[in-house]
Amino acid sequence: MKHLTVLKEEAIQYLAIKEKGIYVDGTLGGGGHSKCILESLNEGYLFAFDQDAFAIGYAQNVLKDYPNVTYIHNNFRYIKKELNDRGIYAIDGILLDLGLSSFQIDDPERGFTYLKETSLDMRMDQRQALSAETIVNTYTIEELAKIFYIYGEEKNSYKIAKRIIEQRPLKTTMELVKICDQVNYKEKGHSAKRVFQALRIAVNDELRVLEDVLADAVDLLKPDGRLVVITFHSLEDRIVKHFFRDEVSEDPILKKLPIPDLHTSPFEVLTRKPIYPKEEELLNNPRSKSAKLRALRRR
Ligand SMILES: C[S@@+](CC[C@H](N)C(=O)[O-])C[C@H]1O[C@@H](n2cnc3c(N)ncnc32)[C@H](O)[C@@H]1O
Repeated sequence: MKHLTVLKEEAIQYLAIKEKGIYVDGTLGGGGHSKCILESLNEGYLFAFDQDAFAIGYAQNVLKDYPNVTYIHNNFRYIKKELNDRGIYAIDGILLDLGLSSFQIDDPERGFTYLKETSLDMRMDQRQALSAETIVNTYTIEELAKIFYIYGEEKNSYKIAKRIIEQRPLKTTMELVKICDQVNYKEKGHSAKRVFQALRIAVNDELRVLEDVLADAVDLLKPDGRLVVITFHSLEDRIVKHFFRDEVSEDPILKKLPIPDLHTSPFEVLTRKPIYPKEEELLNNPRSKSAKLRALRRR
């Protein structure tokens, strides 16, 4: 069991690491990106977040030779508070490699996979109360259908929600897969893929935490500081794309004033189009297939 780091060289290139800089890895995972950041630092320092206790323990071991890193077992949505508590108010760069690690996907106990029989869990943070089982067994038909439709872009969302209500309580992943199989019987791919994605996003509130962290991350950036984000599905990528666009768009009223500095955005988007994994990476790591990298710089 191993996590293959996605877009490793590209992420490091866009972070343009300064030897003495202060960096944040918001998604430590297996420590792959963090190791590259630490290798590029001299007197610099890294703050590494993960909300998953397993990731923190695993990466601490991978990075045991590096003294200049602090591990923060928390959601990256609390980045400002966690850094401020440690006397840090500005950083040179932050990386977010979103979604799940292979450790999480491949561990049947975690309930992320629709390929194995296990409990309906899907929590990235094992301390959290809300799990997929709670959502499936307590939400109304409308709430469930909305989750499947919005977070999974599932066209049969209402039909699936209706069957869930009729058959609950559901205890295992395969009970849910069976319902998806019955409704999506014409589906070419896996019938439960979109429902599982939707539930995972809902359990971990993934889109809202992304919006929160983007706003705080740009606030924290020093001049020439970089924000690099790797996304794995269109809902995440859309949030990042629109956020970047809004950050660089000039205020229409200020734009009319003849004072140049007033209407120059403090940010520039470094990736006009998203960066995709190269052919070789796609061949070596099928999970990189849906990855897209975008980067922003404070001027
Ligand atoms: C794709 S993996 C990161 C892999 C890592 N870049 C590497 O190279 O090994 C994503 C990790 O981010 C964590 N994560 C996802 N969302 C998070 C959040 N909101 N706050 C903290 N950690 C999060 C997950 O628990 C997972 O371990």
